[in-house]
Amino acid sequence: MKLGILGGGQLGRMLGMEGLPLAIDPLFWEPEATACAQLVGEHLCAAYDDPAALAQFAQQVEVCTYEFENVPSPVLGAIAAQVPVYPPLAALEVSQDRLTEKQLFARLGIPTAPYAAVDSEAALRDAVASLGLPAILKTRRFGYDGKGQYVIRSEGDIPAAWQALGGVPLILEGFVNFVREVSIVAARGRDGSTVFYPLSENVHRDGILFTTRARPGDSQQPQAEAIAGKLLAALEYVGVLCLELFDVNGTLVANEFAPRVHNSGHWTIEGAETSQFENHLRAVAGLPLGSTACVGFPALVNLVGTLPPLASLLAIPQVHVHFYGKSEKPARKVGHVTVRTHSESEREQRIAQVIELMQESR
Ligand SMILES: Nc1ncnc2c1ncn2[C@@H]1O[C@H](COP(=O)(O)OP(=O)(O)OP(=O)(O)O)[C@@H](O)[C@H]1O
Ligand SMILES: [Mg+2]
Repeated sequence: MKLGILGGGQLGRMLGMEGLPLAIDPLFWEPEATACAQLVGEHLCAAYDDPAALAQFAQQVEVCTYEFENVPSPVLGAIAAQVPVYPPLAALEVSQDRLTEKQLFARLGIPTAPYAAVDSEAALRDAVASLGLPAILKTRRFGYDGKGQYVIRSEGDIPAAWQALGGVPLILEGFVNFVREVSIVAARGRDGSTVFYPLSENVHRDGILFTTRARPGDSQQPQAEAIAGKLLAALEYVGVLCLELFDVNGTLVANEFAPRVHNSGHWTIEGAETSQFENHLRAVAGLPLGSTACVGFPALVNLVGTLPPLASLLAIPQVHVHFYGKSEKPARKVGHVTVRTHSESEREQRIAQVIELMQESR
């Protein structure tokens, strides 16, 4: 099957790698000539507003998916008029704007941080007065890895926050005092069958995901599945979705969702019976979904900015290395490591060894 994928970064690369044994051949439409996914599939190197590229792409592929969220939705709409596109366009569009995303959560009775739309400095003052402080000002669109965010701690921060982000549509969110962050990765097939992975427990550093530990059997798994299930059903979703949640003393509060495979699910490559990438492919291709059960005690450590020497990483037992083939750059995700062990304590030991190595090689 020829699968069209919009985007050609590491998520596309990992999708492509999992597609090969299933005879699912990707065609990546990605404007960046150096895209790291091109080693694992055909690369259509063209701008997304190129009508000839659109015609060529739609003619070649049987099904289309996407691996990043900022796909221009009119382009996806034009493709959808010719071939099936999964996840559905509506899911992409609602997730592209933090305001519509929160409104959907509210409509479904899913708790979120208190929020207000902000389009002027005066509106920001009003929002701060009604939500209280601390609060986080965010751009409604195009944010990732904590970019496009400003934490407002006192009223004195308002002008600087407006200076930093004003001029585009914004949202102010009340600060959630969470005890931990978790995410749930789910897959829904074309026939509506749905599977959920064990919860991922996530630690961020400098606004970027740093570590994820799989938490099978977590007491909040049923709550997370109930919330994600509502979302999947409402969106008539097909494919993998990741929902990020704050754990507020036992109650889960939704942060955001991604209509795609997700960094917090990368541990599933070695740490689950079927990876999130394979289940995404199975879902969009109309195939049966695979088991999401954990294998051993898996965790993920992101390699951000720089890569430690490969030999040193591989000298640590129970470590599985993924280098993305991207150039090193501060705050850029250039790889990740999955550790998969036989016990919880062993897992912590391996995570610590990887982190120590990263610090040494910085
Ligand atoms: N309302 C909030 N209250 C408390 N912490 C928050 C809030 N919003 C965001 N954060 C913190 O900032 C992190 C990044 O925020 P968010 O997920 O909204 O942005 P993002 O740039 O889309 O991130 P990513 O690309 O990593 O998913 C969150 O994982 C959380 O640690
Ligand atoms: Mg996030």
